[in-house]
Amino acid sequence: MRLMVPTDANFHGNVFGGAILSEVDRTAFIAASRHAKTNCVTASFDRVDFIQPVHVGDVVDFDGQITYVGHSSMEVWVQVRSEALAGGGPRLVGEAYVTMVAVDSTGRPAVVPPLALASEEDRRRFEEGRLRMEQRRHARRASQGS
Ligand SMILES: CC(C)(COP(=O)(O)OP(=O)(O)OC[C@H]1O[C@@H](n2cnc3c(N)ncnc32)[C@H](O)[C@@H]1OP(=O)(O)O)[C@@H](O)C(=O)NCCC(=O)NCCS
Repeated sequence: MRLMVPTDANFHGNVFGGAILSEVDRTAFIAASRHAKTNCVTASFDRVDFIQPVHVGDVVDFDGQITYVGHSSMEVWVQVRSEALAGGGPRLVGEAYVTMVAVDSTGRPAVVPPLALASEEDRRRFEEGRLRMEQRRHARRASQGS
């Protein structure tokens, strides 16, 4: 949870997207490190959607949930909710999928534990995450020309 202050503002007086992205990255790092119980690095961001503006003075809450794990990679779904202290309740203002990779002490990828899938929804999200991870792999291969 973070209070947005004037130093977070862009030229229009709303919150700069980069201030939100930084917190999204930290949130993904916490979720991934808790799961992997080792150091993790950010491998990629995709589909970062800023749905509504965030205002200086809002309190912003970041929620990170692991949706998929591979061998060493984890997909973290981060939802961003903003709330004006004057009232109105929290609004969903953004979401992102972040791929984090667990690494050992030499910085090489390290195997992560499997994800416990307790509900039908967890299983659905896991399958969707698996498909997105495959698409990322294809896109990387295509951009690297291999
Ligand atoms: C992420 C990193 C450790 C991957 O190392 P690598 O040598 O490419 O390792 P591999 O090819 O074996 O890939 C390891 C895993 O990462 C995944 N991965 C690698 N690059 C990825 C990318 N750009 N996006 C998503 N996943 C990626 C692979 O799919 C693989 O997943 P799996 O183990 O679950 O099958 C390495 O690229 C790195 O250190 N990057 C810099 C990270 C960093 O410093 N982030 C902060 C930026 S300031």
